[in-house]
Amino acid sequence: MPDTATPLAPPLVAPPAIDTRVTRLLGIRYPIVQGGLARVATAELAAAVSNAGGLGQIASAGTGQDGAGGLCSPDDLRALIRRCRALTSRPFGVNIPIGRSAVEPVLEVALEERVPVIALTAGNPAPYIRRCEGSGARILVLTAGPELARKAEAAGADMVATVGYEGGGHLGRGDETTLVMVPRVVAAVRIPVLASGGIADGRGLLAALALGAEGVEVGTRFVATTEARAHEHYKQALAAARPEDTRIIKRTLGTPGRVLASAHVERILAAEAAGAGKEAILPMVLGEVNGAGSDRGDLENSFVWAGQSVGLIEAVEPAGEVVRRMAAEAAAGMARLRSCFA
Ligand SMILES: Cc1cc2nc3c(=O)[nH]c(=O)nc-3n(C[C@H](O)[C@H](O)[C@H](O)COP(=O)(O)O)c2cc1C
Repeated sequence: MPDTATPLAPPLVAPPAIDTRVTRLLGIRYPIVQGGLARVATAELAAAVSNAGGLGQIASAGTGQDGAGGLCSPDDLRALIRRCRALTSRPFGVNIPIGRSAVEPVLEVALEERVPVIALTAGNPAPYIRRCEGSGARILVLTAGPELARKAEAAGADMVATVGYEGGGHLGRGDETTLVMVPRVVAAVRIPVLASGGIADGRGLLAALALGAEGVEVGTRFVATTEARAHEHYKQALAAARPEDTRIIKRTLGTPGRVLASAHVERILAAEAAGAGKEAILPMVLGEVNGAGSDRGDLENSFVWAGQSVGLIEAVEPAGEVVRRMAAEAAAGMARLRSCFA
């Protein structure tokens, strides 16, 4: 290798655009989609990512005025969308977890407000995709593996994101890594694929493109940004953590999710290992408990979502700088790779 692969400083001029079906479908400069981040992704983060040339997303989970973990109210979502529009003229998305009650009124607001991208996750997207038909919104479905990706394509999704084992937040049940899952999903569908899980810099973006993905969805890296609505303790803990500081909870509920280790997380894992039932585990993993860490910084008595990409995060930075540096690193990495084949 003629050059090292160390991360670059944020570029001073805009890095070259990256052209894939994802950038064309979404009308963005770089195929970098900020994941729907429950509690964390409000209008400020989404707008900062979109202004830098990626696609920001407003999370509809945990972003309500009531501080609860469920979907925000339709009025709260409308306010978030309008604030985002005031902060950016670029496309952005709204992320809607659909395995919950009260999805329809939230989806109706996203459609009424003509949000350019609607991301559906955690459930059967088919009825909601049908509802979006003719609206002009691009539909992204978050999946984990070829089978779910095929179902999303058959239901009419415009693109799928597929999240591997390294990722932060909820994961597939198969413990399949991003490196293996992405090419399998690319082979299974004709629509464009976003690689997700473990990607936090331009090296990961370039690797995802090499695997056949046409973009990336990035979660944990965007929590450790200035604009993320997360407590400073949470952001600094991400910058300090190593990959071995993450754990997977909720396996016994059938909904595994990767979090930062904490005293509370060890209690959850001990209860799961001891065979505790749903009624004992569920109160420990409520959105409100997540809020104690994510909103109020009491990390030891809560759980906060985080992926193994914490090992690639060194500082809390503005989200726009993260996007621009990822694009610059991918371009530099491409030049380095080209020289290997000369
Ligand atoms: C704090 C946090 C909250 C998340 N909340 C959501 C969510 O509400 N909806 C969703 O589709 N994905 C959610 N995810 C998953 C991300 O969208 C994305 O798939 C994942 O973070 C990718 O892995 P990475 O963290 O390694 O980048 C969340 C992830 C994190 C870290």
